[in-house]
Amino acid sequence: MFQENCLKGQKGLITGGSSGIGLEIARVLIAHGAELTITGRDTSKLAHAKSELGDVLTVAGDVRQADDVAQTVDAHMARFGQVDFLINNAAGNFLCPIEAMSENAFRSVMEIVAHGTFLFSKAVFPHMKKRGYGRIINTGATYAWGQASYVAHSGAAKAAVLNLTRSMAVEWGHYGILVNMIAPGPIDQTEGMKRLMADPKKTDMLLNMMPVPRMGKGSEIGLAALFLIHPLSSYITGIALPVDGGMSLITPGLIPPGFGPKA
Ligand code: HXC
Repeated sequence: MFQENCLKGQKGLITGGSSGIGLEIARVLIAHGAELTITGRDTSKLAHAKSELGDVLTVAGDVRQADDVAQTVDAHMARFGQVDFLINNAAGNFLCPIEAMSENAFRSVMEIVAHGTFLFSKAVFPHMKKRGYGRIINTGATYAWGQASYVAHSGAAKAAVLNLTRSMAVEWGHYGILVNMIAPGPIDQTEGMKRLMADPKKTDMLLNMMPVPRMGKGSEIGLAALFLIHPLSSYITGIALPVDGGMSLITPGLIPPGFGPKA
């Protein structure tokens, strides 16, 4: 699709890069010449990803912890000397009606998704500002601008990420830093779909309602990320790009009433 090695010389970071959508993005970017640091909390998942991806830097850490974030960016800079792009992809999610959701459950997801995006973006910012160049891509969800029944913690967090995307785009555009959000639909074989769409009958009903009636592929999110890093998109900032087979045109959330768990 894109020229081989079109990202040659580009060095970037992907949070939550050892599995799911993050790993799929890593595969696509590496296939086009990028060099990567990937982060995650689970060292065995990181080791597994490294054995597949080859020469990537892996750094274990929690996006909620400012010290971990600083150490990760320092390790990336020590190895690569520059950060061309950051993909804020680490997320947490599970099905839970609001009436059964504990304060800690809400806080955990908010901190991974919203605080994690804030902390990592702030940590790479000085390096990007110094070079007058950077791309930040936040992994959101289409329910960021709709509603998020049964995943309200994630919905609140992704809405925060959407707003943060726009604020960073406006404040940092004149430094040469472009900030965009990708909003994936249901992506096959991901942790999120295992957690959110465990019932095959309900999943089939949902998929059949979609304009493109199938699950998305991880590579389809990877290619969207590639586009937003590629010079082709050099005049695009502050957007939220749905990559969802049109699902958000049919439902403003992911889990309609009757499809969610009981409290
Ligand atoms: C109710 C739950 C729960 C569940 C956890 N909790 N799972 N409550 N139902 N299924 C509660 C716990 O009881 C606890 O509250 C609080 O949440 C924190 O849980 P911990 O396990 O202590 O937290 P932590 O280890 O930090 O784990 C964070 C997590 C976990 C979010 C809860 O699920 C996680 O690490 N997930 C990472 C992977 C992931 O979710 N990937 C999918 C992203 S998909 P109490 O009150 O008991 O202390 C995605 C989809 C996007 O985002 C949209 C696609 C269309």
